[in-house]
Amino acid sequence: MDKLICIPDFEQAASKILTSNAYEYYKSGADDESTLSDNKQAYQRWLIKPRVLRDVSSRKLVSTVLDGKVNFPVGVSPSAMQKLAHPEGELGMVRAVEQSGSIYILSTNSTCSIEEVAKAAPAARKWFQLYVFKDRSVSVGLVKRAEAAGFEALVLTVDAPLFGRRRANIRNRFALPSHLKLANFPSEGFNTSDKGSALSNLDKIMDQSVTWDDFKWLQSITKLPIVLKGIMSPEDAKMALAYGANAIFVSNHGGRQLDTVFATLDALPAIVKEVAGRCDVYVDGGISTGSDVFKALALGATMVFIGRPALWGLSVSGQVGAKRVLEILRDELDLTMALSGISDVKEIDSQYVIRSSLL
Ligand code: FNR
Repeated sequence: MDKLICIPDFEQAASKILTSNAYEYYKSGADDESTLSDNKQAYQRWLIKPRVLRDVSSRKLVSTVLDGKVNFPVGVSPSAMQKLAHPEGELGMVRAVEQSGSIYILSTNSTCSIEEVAKAAPAARKWFQLYVFKDRSVSVGLVKRAEAAGFEALVLTVDAPLFGRRRANIRNRFALPSHLKLANFPSEGFNTSDKGSALSNLDKIMDQSVTWDDFKWLQSITKLPIVLKGIMSPEDAKMALAYGANAIFVSNHGGRQLDTVFATLDALPAIVKEVAGRCDVYVDGGISTGSDVFKALALGATMVFIGRPALWGLSVSGQVGAKRVLEILRDELDLTMALSGISDVKEIDSQYVIRSSLL
């Protein structure tokens, strides 16, 4: 693993280790994958404007996120079925985050249960990602379990009333290998291992009629703060604040839902302006270097999250690999700060970036 020194190295290594069923499930975006690639390209449209001759001999990356501390502002986005990457699955990932001092968001569709994840990394900051199911008692049960297990926030994903069309999964008839299961659900009556069934069965139980009133309902059944993940417009950011969201997560699901939706980095500035400091704003999608993290923070994100890069780390070497990916991003951010004349992550703002006139 010592030869892997950047995130693309980890992806390359993961592509050789994983089955094509797993690699393509992780890698793919919806339809033509325009959004998947634009999420990344958006970072090339912004360039860093460094300052010089400032003392950068010691640097601080510690930050405050949702009223708690993180050692550096890069967390792990919720991604389903992490045992497809490595036998340690979600347990390896959450332990990597615990060691790094960041935030782990556990997907509803995980291959280790809420309780197993809590037990594996009691000191990690853990949030639980939720979908609203037609049978509300399923959502209530998950919320109560997350609360009891010490998760500190709920992340309601609002961009997936149905799953997007990821062509590779359709071609592969994506399925969970029969030794794995969605650990937060009872296995009987919930088949994910028949060819092509893994996502379509989930689609069937998810509620497509969810509205802002259901968000109010969710608030009424929990005392946990709620982050809304999948906000892409200032209009919805305004609604989110009006309805009392505790934080806004700018995301297009890593280009896996609506294709040709615009890049998250392009969505960020208008949302940050609308929010005007009233709550945290997070962003994910396409981040794979420390300079990407720097640009997202410069455009107003409180913290960024990574989906696939963490999965590549986990695939290569379980907990150790996922931890290494987080460390690489931390070190690259640290160096970017130093070379930009910044010694505290909190100083990063829009004066340090310019929009490229070339792209
Ligand atoms: C996801 N994502 C996701 N989001 C969510 O809210 N619940 C989920 O269960 C999943 N599952 C999932 C599986 C896989 C394989 C991927 C790649 C992504 C979306 C995820 O949280 C995040 O928004 C994106 O992955 C961010 O983009 P990058 O960092 O992967 O480019």
